[in-house]
Amino acid sequence: MTSSDEYEIRRFRAGLNDDGTVTAETEAWLQAVNRGFHEQAFTPKTLRREAEFIAADDRLMTGVYVDRKLPHSVGAEVPVATFTTYMSTLSTGETLLPAHLISDVTVRPTHRRRGLLRRMMTESLTAARDASLPIAALTASEATIYGRFGFGVATQTSTIELDTTSRFALPSLDRGAVGTVELARREAIAEVADDIVARFHTATRGSVGRQASYPARIDGTINGHADEPDLTVRAALHYDVDGVPDGYVTYQHVESRDAVAEVKVIDLVATGPDSYLGLWNFVGNLDLIQRVRFSRARIDDPLPWAMADTRGYRVTGRDDLLWLRILDPIACLQSRRYSGDGELGLAVEDALGFAAGTFDLGVSGGIPSVQQTATTARPDADVTLDVASLSSAFLGGATIGALADAGRVRGDDDAVRQLGRMFAVDRAPYCITYF
Ligand SMILES: CC(C)(COP(=O)(O)OP(=O)(O)OC[C@H]1O[C@@H](n2cnc3c(N)ncnc32)[C@H](O)[C@@H]1OP(=O)(O)O)[C@@H](O)C(=O)NCCC(=O)NCCS
Repeated sequence: MTSSDEYEIRRFRAGLNDDGTVTAETEAWLQAVNRGFHEQAFTPKTLRREAEFIAADDRLMTGVYVDRKLPHSVGAEVPVATFTTYMSTLSTGETLLPAHLISDVTVRPTHRRRGLLRRMMTESLTAARDASLPIAALTASEATIYGRFGFGVATQTSTIELDTTSRFALPSLDRGAVGTVELARREAIAEVADDIVARFHTATRGSVGRQASYPARIDGTINGHADEPDLTVRAALHYDVDGVPDGYVTYQHVESRDAVAEVKVIDLVATGPDSYLGLWNFVGNLDLIQRVRFSRARIDDPLPWAMADTRGYRVTGRDDLLWLRILDPIACLQSRRYSGDGELGLAVEDALGFAAGTFDLGVSGGIPSVQQTATTARPDADVTLDVASLSSAFLGGATIGALADAGRVRGDDDAVRQLGRMFAVDRAPYCITYF
């Protein structure tokens, strides 16, 4: 047995030696993450690439170590738990909020359920709050882990299947398509992705800034843990009327279970409806392909509404993607516009304390003004909710009405309805980035 005070937590940045090799500490940490997610061990080339990406994100790596080695077991230099954080931004559609992103969370099976995740998470959120970061974000392997730390599901995506036999048609494009699509070199996507993704990110409520490895992840350069790129990945660009790339898609032909000729869309990022429909028109008209699958579609996707035969669009799954955790309710509530005016007292409950308090939310002409009136959740506030629910409702991913019916928002009916009107959004928040 190992008692909790035998664990030592160390924090460091990714290290590369002068000759370009990866430091032993970084290598041991990365190998621990790989084991945690049941991935293949790194080769020297993929290890170095991964370390370079982590360094480019300026990630703070946390490792938990035990100074004990049983004969033949992995060494004491390999952490029993890992955790990383880095700074990015969350788009509210109106502004980019600084966000504390959490990733690479693993605890070795032989050290589970001893509070290591709780310790790493609590210390990390405390540091983020001390650094005045308003919100934390993560993507989760399981939906039951992070609610207890105040995270709530903030965006969802659909997995869709598109029938691209002769029934596929987008009649609205016949009325004057804007721009054009052309096949691109696989490697060209990395050259244009930053700009296209930045435009998408600024305009899309719920989007999170991408980590440095993303272009390599979506163009086949990162190919599992193989040294060589995945040459089955193809790419196309959408160009606006001035010939400037304003959207891209990467995709590959895959073996389907039922012998249907299928393409999987890996990443499709468009900066507006023209490039979005233009890219889908391209993908939907690939010769020899009967079906296209995409697992990151908007839940309020315009695509079926643009199709002549909407039954050719099937939603086969719905998944949470982004989990948010408000740390500073004033900064967060003040960062968005609202759909209804009014004034309400909100009591926010937070078991970890960061966001707890009572707040006056006043909205006039859609512009908020937020004041804290107590440091605890006062029982006489108009509406009471826990921080995970507020985090889910923040960008409109969950409606106040649905949360109230689920028993997670409390208050008299008129106040809850008014809050629902204030928080309403025109489009569901959308995050296309897994981290
Ligand atoms: C998930 C994981 C990180 C948990 O680590 P851990 O150190 O065992 O967690 P802790 O002991 O700190 O537990 C903290 C709380 O979370 C709960 N918990 C931990 N893992 C959980 C899981 N998979 N499902 C549900 N609850 C879980 C614990 O019961 C505990 O609850 P409590 O504080 O209310 O009593 C670890 O099991 C793991 O590495 N899993 C594989 C990799 C993975 O899924 N990582 C997450 C990537 S998003």
